Amino acid sequence: MDLGIRGKKALVLGASQGMGAAIARALAGEGCDLVIGARSKDALAELAAELASEHGVATETYGIDLSNAAAVEKLCAAIENEIKPDILLNNTGGPPPSGAIGVATDVWQRAFQSLFMSTVRITEAAVVGMRARRWGRVLTIASSGVQQPIPNLAVSNSLRPSVIGFSKSLANEVAGDGVTVNVILPGRIETNRMIQIDQANAERQGKSVPELQAASLGNIPAGRFGTTEEFAAVAAFLMSAPASYVTGSTIRVDGGAIKGI
Ligand SMILES: NC(=O)c1ccc[n+]([C@@H]2O[C@H](COP(=O)([O-])OP(=O)(O)OC[C@H]3O[C@@H](n4cnc5c(N)ncnc54)[C@H](OP(=O)(O)O)[C@@H]3O)[C@@H](O)[C@H]2O)c1
Repeated sequence: MDLGIRGKKALVLGASQGMGAAIARALAGEGCDLVIGARSKDALAELAAELASEHGVATETYGIDLSNAAAVEKLCAAIENEIKPDILLNNTGGPPPSGAIGVATDVWQRAFQSLFMSTVRITEAAVVGMRARRWGRVLTIASSGVQQPIPNLAVSNSLRPSVIGFSKSLANEVAGDGVTVNVILPGRIETNRMIQIDQANAERQGKSVPELQAASLGNIPAGRFGTTEEFAAVAAFLMSAPASYVTGSTIRVDGGAIKGI
């Protein structure tokens, strides 16, 4: 299927590795020009060079710490004045593992800034131009934990649902301008983040990582973890031209792991 986004400009955040990098690859494969952002400038530069040479698209990198409110404001100005993306992928690192009790106030506040406030400000900045051009795609990576809380990830379980509330509210306001706003929920996609979470849980429970992963696989009807390519294919579709009637939605990519309907 032609995703109809050749020549569109995409801003992909959290793009230095994992699902963000896979989405940048998928969009480059569809002919999108890219601005890729994260903190690790070397990894971004390497990916930008790879995408430009493999797909002949224009690539730029943007070094950003999304937990830094001042840096996010600078990015917002760049979005409105220079980057002017047609497609925005909101993504950043997940908060540290913990239970619900005893989390320090500054950990909650940093996670709120990083997961919620930066998403709100960056999205606001991006939709200005999208509405004016009467075409735009906003997609935010959240987590399966918003529909089925994940043990020992209380900060993520608590704050990520707010992104869905924001996205659904915004979707209603901009749908008439050709701009779609959706949220995508990963569940056990094989990345460094997944391995870090498994290591933290293995230590907490006094188990080995393979033991813990075997138990985790038992809860996934697909019987395996997802690949970043599988996740990116769904994300790229949601940001494509044919997905023009999908908005205000929350889409799972979890091998059936979430138990509720
Ligand atoms: N993998 C899963 O199954 C799964 C499940 C549920 C939820 N999630 C969530 O989905 C998101 C992406 O996950 P992933 O598995 O792809 O993780 P990952 O491999 O750790 O990648 C995270 C990306 O976010 C960037 N990042 C982290 N902190 C940042 C910051 N403060 N400012 C800017 N960029 C930052 C990282 O780059 P730099 O370090 O270079 O900044 C990296 O490019 C995370 O929020 C994760 O918690 C993942």
